[in-house]
Amino acid sequence: MSYLLGIDIGTSGTKTICIAPDGKILSVASATYPCAAPRPLWSEQNPEDWWNAVVKTVREAVSKAGVPASEVKAIGLSGQMHGSVFFDANDAVIRPAILWNDQRTAKECAEIESAVGGRSNLIQMVANPAMTGFTAPKILWLRNNEPENYEKMKSCLLPKDAIRFWLTGEKATEVSDASGTLLLDVKNRRWSQELLDALHLDSSILPRVYESEDVTGKLTPSAAAELGLTTDCVVVGGAGDCAAGAVGNGIVRTGALSTSLGTSGVAFVHSDTVKIDPLGRAHTFCHAVRGAWHMMGVTLSAAGSLQWFRNALCQEFKAQVESAGGDVYDALTSEASAVPTGSDGLFFLPYLSGERTPHADPDARGCFIGLTLAHGRGHMARAVMEGVCYSLRESIDIFRGLNVPISEIRASGGGAKSAFWRQMQADVFNCKTVTLNSEEGPAYGVALLAAVGAGEYSSVQEACDATITRATELEPRAEVVAQYDARFEVYKKLYRSLKDDFKAISALS
Ligand code: XUL
Repeated sequence: MSYLLGIDIGTSGTKTICIAPDGKILSVASATYPCAAPRPLWSEQNPEDWWNAVVKTVREAVSKAGVPASEVKAIGLSGQMHGSVFFDANDAVIRPAILWNDQRTAKECAEIESAVGGRSNLIQMVANPAMTGFTAPKILWLRNNEPENYEKMKSCLLPKDAIRFWLTGEKATEVSDASGTLLLDVKNRRWSQELLDALHLDSSILPRVYESEDVTGKLTPSAAAELGLTTDCVVVGGAGDCAAGAVGNGIVRTGALSTSLGTSGVAFVHSDTVKIDPLGRAHTFCHAVRGAWHMMGVTLSAAGSLQWFRNALCQEFKAQVESAGGDVYDALTSEASAVPTGSDGLFFLPYLSGERTPHADPDARGCFIGLTLAHGRGHMARAVMEGVCYSLRESIDIFRGLNVPISEIRASGGGAKSAFWRQMQADVFNCKTVTLNSEEGPAYGVALLAAVGAGEYSSVQEACDATITRATELEPRAEVVAQYDARFEVYKKLYRSLKDDFKAISALS
């Protein structure tokens, strides 16, 4: 028998799951670690913390699953994207890793665009504009700000690929995560020599690129001993956490789109051809499916907006509900559902942490707009939920505008647990919205990639077909769709009207 492990090296912690080849989850183990902000807008982690969490969770997951170590045949790695782990000539880590949510590189993003003669040239080369969180600007930041570290740096790996290096001794990555470095020629699925040359970067700092299901190496004797596994266990390419989560949701064919409502929200769509937004509003990355791509839009505060609303404005209500044995989110949802579609003219812009898609704008701010004396807590809760759906619809409309087919939405993340919010998604997006049996997200997706790498399935699609089933299904309601369509037009105008004011507000603080 072969068993598979999926390891997701996230920002708040690492999760490892063990599955049987039929997709059944045998065990889940997780461990957390801190994230440092040595200066405002900086975000760093110690890669050794990831390694310790991997060792701990692998040992725990295998022991909980009760499977013999010799039958753990393959590992899939997923992780937070875009982070940079810098290694010296002796393969020692030079400094803490700079993470995806670090905002220090605005100057380097401008430097990259100007090195290639502007944003549209860059989009042609690597399918995406420069974003502060991406990896290439971080390498330039090191060169500009820590020249002694830059001199020492001989390779740069993404978070999950640093773990791969310690597991297998191989410096390797795969196409989905590599896309988020800004250094991949996404269309041709290889490093962009053109961009490397323009930035005066040596390609030797980058690892070899594989497809996500390919075997990239085997455990070294010392890694096998530390994890309690054998050197027969292979490590497949795996995927960045967004593509991995999409595989876990079965987003592996034309027509499938997933939305994830976690702290941030992601709209992710599969595409058999490479589609690029010429305005660079949504990301185009290689998918973890051989020969496929995906587009992705990110709402930085999604379920995080509702959480903020609860924490900032509903503490007393929360205490009341909880003392009566209830759940505050259920109570807020029940109040929101008693309010008409469109929250009686109240709008919420979910830009509590700035925004990424479609307005890459760190200065954007959250707002309630349209308040009257008639509005209460239920209106505000509903407006927050509607604002998050409108924001994701902006991403979905970019995909539709590029003729990416969308026939079904698969909702995941904490926000998908609410049937009310799922029906709102179906109505705002005007698309059937389903949920699935598996809820383990990226770790599950890469465990399936490991199953393909171990030869249990001949393709990622076959693995998903055999393991993923639907749990619930909601259809859009035509009359409500029309009501939301009208309100969405107003929502879209609000950012444009307020954009300059957001800049002025940001300049004040
Ligand atoms: C994707 C992104 C985040 C990170 C952290 O572009 O920035 O989803 O991967 O999880």
